[in-house]
Amino acid sequence: MNDTPPTLQAYRASVLHFVNDPAFDEQAVRWHADGLLLVQNGKILDAGDYARLLPTLPVGTAIEDWRGKLLMPGFIDTHVHYPQTDIIGSPAPGLLPWLNTYTFPAERRFDNSAHASEVADFFLRELLRNGTTTAAVYCTVHPQSVDAFFQRSDALNLRMVAGKCLMDRHAPDFLLDTAESGVRESEELIQRWHNKGRQHYAITVRFAPTSSMAQLKLAGELAAQYPDTYIQTHVAENTDEVKWVRDLFPDSRSYLDVYDQVGLMRSRALFAHCIWLDDADRARMAATQSVAAVCPTSNLFLGSGLFDFEAADRMHMPVSLATDVGGGTSFSMLQTMNALYKVGRMGGTHLPALRMFYMATLGGARALQLEGTIGNFVAGCDADFIVVDLQSTPLLARRSATTGTLEEQLFALAILADDRAIAHTYSAGVCVHSRTA
Ligand code: GUN
Ligand code: ZN
Repeated sequence: MNDTPPTLQAYRASVLHFVNDPAFDEQAVRWHADGLLLVQNGKILDAGDYARLLPTLPVGTAIEDWRGKLLMPGFIDTHVHYPQTDIIGSPAPGLLPWLNTYTFPAERRFDNSAHASEVADFFLRELLRNGTTTAAVYCTVHPQSVDAFFQRSDALNLRMVAGKCLMDRHAPDFLLDTAESGVRESEELIQRWHNKGRQHYAITVRFAPTSSMAQLKLAGELAAQYPDTYIQTHVAENTDEVKWVRDLFPDSRSYLDVYDQVGLMRSRALFAHCIWLDDADRARMAATQSVAAVCPTSNLFLGSGLFDFEAADRMHMPVSLATDVGGGTSFSMLQTMNALYKVGRMGGTHLPALRMFYMATLGGARALQLEGTIGNFVAGCDADFIVVDLQSTPLLARRSATTGTLEEQLFALAILADDRAIAHTYSAGVCVHSRTA
């Protein structure tokens, strides 16, 4: 008779995960209506049908019984700003006034480490409350804002990507670095934090208008020097911004081309928005394996425009899903799917729920080149997962009772649910959030 290894954890629920993109592979979905997830030492050991896995368990293994609930990988938000937590939902007529009126003054306060730590802690707990276990996060221009963020994330043992904003012009003086200081500080942060535990560094060009060509070139050189770091920036979000970039960089073929010319397009490069691209841009995104971070709640809130899924798919442009809080209006990736679906509809696209849940899990892991580490329940992945309560509101419970297919159930979840549906969030096998009421 085997003794139960003290670290073996077993969870019974309906289990959902993906091994590929369901838009392009009919075999992509793994669905176990009566399933079991096995976790050992913070890693996935196995996931499958309860009836198949039960006999493999050592005698006496305790099984947490979550029947009626849905167990899936933690969500991955590929673009979000932690310093904008306190200005979410601020009124402004479009991106550029919103940046000047609310965003820049809020970011000023992150020169103070105590403030940065307090906001980082709230932000991370809000992610976990919403079932997000990994995110690609903007900090501010201040290196101490990055130290504060990674310290909090490391203390919670979360897998996070983050970086210091590079911005040496066209912003208030209190938010500016210089071409040289920005890149020097970024390199110091890479050495301090990149691949430390579960932390990863992103070279973070705020957006082309706030960086001189000298700074952009140095950022490109840094990205070449540290090829496994991430790159994150904004591109083609808003028509006024696109015009501004055309004036500032008259020699570039397009906004995206500004980044391309300095070596900022490669795998592990995340480009938020990608609304006002043309097909030549999309082809470059595909050829370089750069990824669009689609931010539907932000694009609707700021009136930036509608992401074109049909064009993205036609050009094989990699896409991922993101909240873009504080331009985005919710930390919930479920609410973000709700907006994503409607943005798709406005362009004549019908996005199946299965595809949206893929985007929020394995799709995000692939965007970060972390497949095999996070994003699904393949053996050896980090045990970052969520338990979803289909009874979390009376309406969701009522609707869930009458859904027929898995697609219908997931679709109702994407359209009707929010943070209240996240019963538990686990990171590396440890419960880091449980809903109390
Ligand atoms: N472009 C430059 N900075 C920002 C920002 O903070 N939010 C969004 N949505 N767009 C930007
Ligand atoms: Zn953003």
